[in-house]
Amino acid sequence: MITVFGSINVDLVLKCAKLPQCGETVLAHASFIAPGGKGANQAHAAARLGATVHLVGAVGNDAMAETALSLLKVAGVDIGCVAQFDGTTGCASVAVSDAGDNQIIVASGANAQVTAAMLPDSLLATTQLLVLQMELPFAATHDALTRARAAGVKTMLNNAPALALPLATLRLIDVLVVNEGEFAVTVGALEGEAFDGVESQLTALARAIGATVVLTRGEHGVWATTAQGELHKVAGHVVQAVDTTGAGDTFCGAFAVAMVDGFSLVQTLAQANACAALACTEWGAQAAQPTRVALNTWLQEAKFNSKSIASKSMNTQTNG
Ligand code: RIB
Repeated sequence: MITVFGSINVDLVLKCAKLPQCGETVLAHASFIAPGGKGANQAHAAARLGATVHLVGAVGNDAMAETALSLLKVAGVDIGCVAQFDGTTGCASVAVSDAGDNQIIVASGANAQVTAAMLPDSLLATTQLLVLQMELPFAATHDALTRARAAGVKTMLNNAPALALPLATLRLIDVLVVNEGEFAVTVGALEGEAFDGVESQLTALARAIGATVVLTRGEHGVWATTAQGELHKVAGHVVQAVDTTGAGDTFCGAFAVAMVDGFSLVQTLAQANACAALACTEWGAQAAQPTRVALNTWLQEAKFNSKSIASKSMNTQTNG
């Protein structure tokens, strides 16, 4: 069972020909409102793949709360630990260009009131993997990681939006997931050390914090180094991306499912990588996330290396 301790937002998505520069106004050619938030997106991604998922977080007592929780309910995410506080639900302005790139600004709203005390001991006791991001207050995230480590529960942190986290926090993590920009911020924890390229930074960070560090590189694939210094590389998928919003969240949700299901690290990376790529081909953070059947069908059609991820027979490129 997976527990996500994370943010819940409503996204106002604005589709435009190109993203605005600083000080520039551009016209959007379409817009829609959809559920979002990195925590909610990751919980939804895992549930769509068939996992049992609990979400701990908060919404406000405004009209947006219902929208924020709508797809989570449909996907069967347990929202019994989602509080409703006075004030606004978290919301995000998401600008997406015709090339599929995005710019996001988040107003935390109710997410800012979440504390680790909202994660019940009874839920932690039955959790196999606690999944966290960086859209809740830092203290809440650090405290939840501390409690999980004390309870012997594995943790996965997606350092997004990235903070230069203290080593004490990073050392509470079993799996750290970052994209290239977030990696540059995170690796600041190794201040003073000299590196010869990204691979050596990745290895040094994994060793320093005693965790598996996963670096997502979009269509260039995903790299990961274990705490023992083993480097794995999984090739990317080239897709017709219409919206990359939440691709990292889909990756994290799918990674969590494969990890809990006992797949090897390479199989887990491959599953998460494929799921995130497929999600980029549709609009919306949660609406685009595939079911297990849709993912396997897509992989078969793409003549991927395996007929079914569930067969645990993924054949992916490693160590090179
Ligand atoms: O990762 C994408 C998400 O970031 C969006 O859904 C938005 O709500 C922000 O949290």
